Amino acid sequence: MGLLDMKSQLQLKTDDIKQKFACFNIEKFEIFSSTNLAYRSRAEFRIFHKDSKIYYAMSDKNKKLFTINNCAIVDKNIAKTMQKLLLKLQENEILSKKLFAVEFLNSTQNDIIVTLIYHKKLDDIWSEKAKEIENILHIKLIGRSKKQKIVVSTDIITNIIKINDTKYLYEYKDTTFVQPNHEINQKMIDFINQHIKTGGDMCELYCGAGNFTIPLSAKFDKLLATEINKTSIKLSKQNAKINKIENIKFARLSSSEFAQAKNKLREFRRLKELDIDLLEYNFSTILVDPPRAGLDEQTLFLLKEFEQIVYISCNPDTLKENLKTILKTHKIKKFAFFDQFVWTKHIEIIVILESI
Ligand SMILES: C[S@@+](CC[C@H](N)C(=O)[O-])C[C@H]1O[C@@H](n2cnc3c(N)ncnc32)[C@H](O)[C@@H]1O
Repeated sequence: MGLLDMKSQLQLKTDDIKQKFACFNIEKFEIFSSTNLAYRSRAEFRIFHKDSKIYYAMSDKNKKLFTINNCAIVDKNIAKTMQKLLLKLQENEILSKKLFAVEFLNSTQNDIIVTLIYHKKLDDIWSEKAKEIENILHIKLIGRSKKQKIVVSTDIITNIIKINDTKYLYEYKDTTFVQPNHEINQKMIDFINQHIKTGGDMCELYCGAGNFTIPLSAKFDKLLATEINKTSIKLSKQNAKINKIENIKFARLSSSEFAQAKNKLREFRRLKELDIDLLEYNFSTILVDPPRAGLDEQTLFLLKEFEQIVYISCNPDTLKENLKTILKTHKIKKFAFFDQFVWTKHIEIIVILESI
C-alpha cells in the first residue's frame, strides 16, 4: 500500500471488497477504522546475526531477510520491550547464541509474553539467565527449541474487554489464537453486542478462548461453545469461571464434529462426559469465526437450521463462497468491515443474517 494515507488505504481495500460482494446487493456497508500505528499486540521477528551482533529482521516477498531497527505497527509496549530486550540479549551470549526468532504477545494490561526461539537445546544456565532478564524487563519469558518449551515463570497473561460498564477478564496463552488488534477486537464485540437479536440459546463454533462467547453470554439463556484446540477450550472454561459466568458450556469439537452431533449422525463421548445433551438447547443463534479456509460443507449445511447467524470472517473470498449457500435461506441484516490489519490488504468482516 506504499505511500497511501490512512483514509485512502482503508477506502481502497473496502472499495475493492465491496465490488466482490456487489452480486449480493448489500444495502449498507459499515466501516470501522483502527489507530493506524502501534496497533498490533502480537508480532514475530526473525533474528539476524552479523559480526557477533544481533538484529531484528523480517523477510520480504522473496523470503530475503532484511534487518529492522523498529516496527511502527506494533503496540507501544512491544516497541519498548523490543529495544530493551535486544540490548539485554546482546550483552549475553547464553541468551543470544543460536537465537532464531522472537515472538511478542501483549495484553490490554501491558502484560507481555516474549518467546525466544532457538536452534539449540536449552539448559539450566539458560533458564537462570532468562529469569534475570524476566525480572529486569518485567516480561514473561518462554524459551522454545526443537521438542522443548521452557516457561520461566508463567505463560499466562491477563487481558480485559469492556462491554458497557462490565469488565471481562481473560487469560491468554502464547500458543492459542488471540485477536491481534485490541482496539478492533473491542469494536467487533461492541458491534455484535449492539446488533445481535437477544433470546433463546446460542451456539458458537471456533470459540477460541471465549473472546465473543463470554461478553455475549448475557444476551442468551444458555450457550454452547466449541473449538478444536485443547488449550483454547481449557482457557475458555477458565475465563468463564473467572468472570463467574455459569450459562456457557464449552466442548472440544471441530465444527464438522459438532454438525455430526447436532444431526445425530454420531455420538460423542466428549459431550456425554460434560453432561451436554443437544436436545436440551433451544438454539436461536449460531456464531462462527472460522480460519481463512471458511466453513466446511457439513458446517455450512448446519447453518440453515438457525434463525440468526453471525459470521466473522478474515477472508472475503471464502466468505463470499459461503454466502452463496447461506443466502438461499437467510438475508443480510448487517455487513461491517473492521480494519484489523491496517496497511495490509487484509480486513475482518462481520455479517449478521436472519432467516428469510
Ligand atoms: C479466527 S480464530 C477465532 C477464535 C475466537 N473466535 C477469537 O475471537 O479469539 C479461529 C479458531 O478456530 C479454531 N479452529 C480451527 N479449525 C477448526 C475446526 N475445524 N473446528 C473448530 N475450531 C477450529 C482455531 O483453533 C481458532 O481458535
